[in-house]
Amino acid sequence: MGLRVGVLASGSGSNLQALLDAASSGRLDARIEVVVSDMPDAFSLERARRAGVAAEVVAWGAAPSREAHDDAVVDVLRRHQVDTVALAGYLRLVTPVLLAAFPGRVLNIHPALLPSFPGLHVQAAALEHGVKFSGCTVHFVDEEMDHGPIVIQAVVPVRDDDTPESLAARILREEHRIYPQALQYLAEGRLRIDGRRVVVDPPSPGSGSLHNPAVKF
Ligand code: GAR
Repeated sequence: MGLRVGVLASGSGSNLQALLDAASSGRLDARIEVVVSDMPDAFSLERARRAGVAAEVVAWGAAPSREAHDDAVVDVLRRHQVDTVALAGYLRLVTPVLLAAFPGRVLNIHPALLPSFPGLHVQAAALEHGVKFSGCTVHFVDEEMDHGPIVIQAVVPVRDDDTPESLAARILREEHRIYPQALQYLAEGRLRIDGRRVVVDPPSPGSGSLHNPAVKF
């Protein structure tokens, strides 16, 4: 039996689309049961409808507190019998209410190599800092922003002529690869959280060193 995933998304939902595509092609052993957005106009809701997936709005500001908002989100997720929650461009910090309802089962994707550049506008921040590599991170969610144990990271080079948009696009292509993979590891029961570390069992080591600019020594 595959995962029953609820996706929380505030925006355009290209990561949601990657999960929908991976699930429908069978590469990801999961069903996306529901997409929940805090933004009634989010294109992610339209993507859900087009895929025949339930699309629900829990509007930001309708509830008196962040906890009450998450209570409403948990109600929706439970109604759809979700066992795994994937944040995909979800711009709200989730509270312990949601984390307690799905312990060890809430994941997020972030467009930087955490713990560098948490928060928003991180591609611009990476460019300003002058880093030679950036990338993306899938991690389990805890109570701090962009902080929990890391499942997978992908690295991309930063080019001298990059703009925040060109860097974001390069990173996004990798996001669309690592998020389905992280969920597939979870579906296969291969992830174990050991403190801050996530162990993939059996191990599946990635490729070797990267340099930017080139190193000839
Ligand atoms: C993605 O780059 C995602 O990593 C980022 O928002 C974008 C959403 O794009 N999330 C965060 O910055 C969370 N801290 P999408 O709606 O096309 O998937």
